[in-house]
Amino acid sequence: MPAKSFIHIMGTGAYIPAKVLTNHDLVKMVDTSDEWITTRTGIKERHVAARDEASSDLAAQAARRALDNAGVRADAIELLIVATATPDMFFPSTACFVQKALGIKEAVSFDVSAACSGFLYALETAKALMESGSYKLALVIGAEKLSSITNWEDRNTCVLFGDGAGAAVLQKRQTPGGILSTYLRSDANHTDILNVPGGGSRAPATKAAIHMDGKEVFKLAVHKMISAAEQALKRAGKKDSDLALLIPHQANLRIIEAIAQRVHIPRDRVFVNVDKYGNMSAATTIVALDEARRQGRVRKGDLVELIAFGAGLTWGAAVIQF
Ligand code: ACO
Repeated sequence: MPAKSFIHIMGTGAYIPAKVLTNHDLVKMVDTSDEWITTRTGIKERHVAARDEASSDLAAQAARRALDNAGVRADAIELLIVATATPDMFFPSTACFVQKALGIKEAVSFDVSAACSGFLYALETAKALMESGSYKLALVIGAEKLSSITNWEDRNTCVLFGDGAGAAVLQKRQTPGGILSTYLRSDANHTDILNVPGGGSRAPATKAAIHMDGKEVFKLAVHKMISAAEQALKRAGKKDSDLALLIPHQANLRIIEAIAQRVHIPRDRVFVNVDKYGNMSAATTIVALDEARRQGRVRKGDLVELIAFGAGLTWGAAVIQF
């Protein structure tokens, strides 16, 4: 019988585009205020990619930093998965563009679509393929250029989103630890409360923009992320008090605070950076994990849980031992 293998995160990296859009900038674009955005969402500013920067450009930069952090050469990567709701184009996949940018001659590259839960969906997919297949090294990326599908005249949504990418290098090892458990779910009864209705085969369009029932999304986000947090901990045989850090999807500070209260985790063990970046969809949890590691908030042996929620509805969690 082959020895049991474990999937470890060996390195992380993030790339946030340079241009900053503050709440004060948005006041000049729509009927809103810094006070409204801050009290309702916790967001102070977000970053917006340049016109000629696509999701794969952000992803490739994040990937380079993750490879560097892991001490792994790009051409050693055998599996490359990009989670994105804003692919460069319908096809080729954004993952293939990243493969090209990194100069990887041959790999298995594809995209995963699960909106804001995308990184966790990609992580579980990579883990399962690595455990059952022959892949030893993988790149898992969350990358979004949400500014490309934002209606900049709709104050209900345009204040919420930002652009960015995060990447993780995964390695199959014999050493126990790494991704201890994952938990994923989707409920397709709510496809109407958060979507981009135009631009696909149902309604081809030249203009595609995010549509959202914010209140419904808020309630379900809290409920589903708490459930995911509990289920993944249970599967890993751990308790919330074992967590060194909880990294929730960064959509709204009030959602994060509601979750923190329910899972009984002290506020200083809940990671928050939504104030700086807004909601970067599939990129949020991995960008946050990278920042936490670089700030020294994840030490060897620490237990970290990522939780996310997005359109679909989709939601999930992963418990990782570093
Ligand atoms: N500035 C000023 N006023 C605004 C703005 C704005 N930017 N946006 C909306 N409003 C107004 C609305 O028009 C409405 O006015 P009305 O009552 O006269 O019609 C009013 O504010 C709504 O206010 P509230 O009900 O207090 O808004 P709420 O507290 O529900 O906050 C928010 C709205 C921030 C969108 C909240 O519902 C939310 O965060 N929901 C979750 C959103 C989310 O997480 N989305 C991402 C999901 S993940 C993914 O897959 C993309």
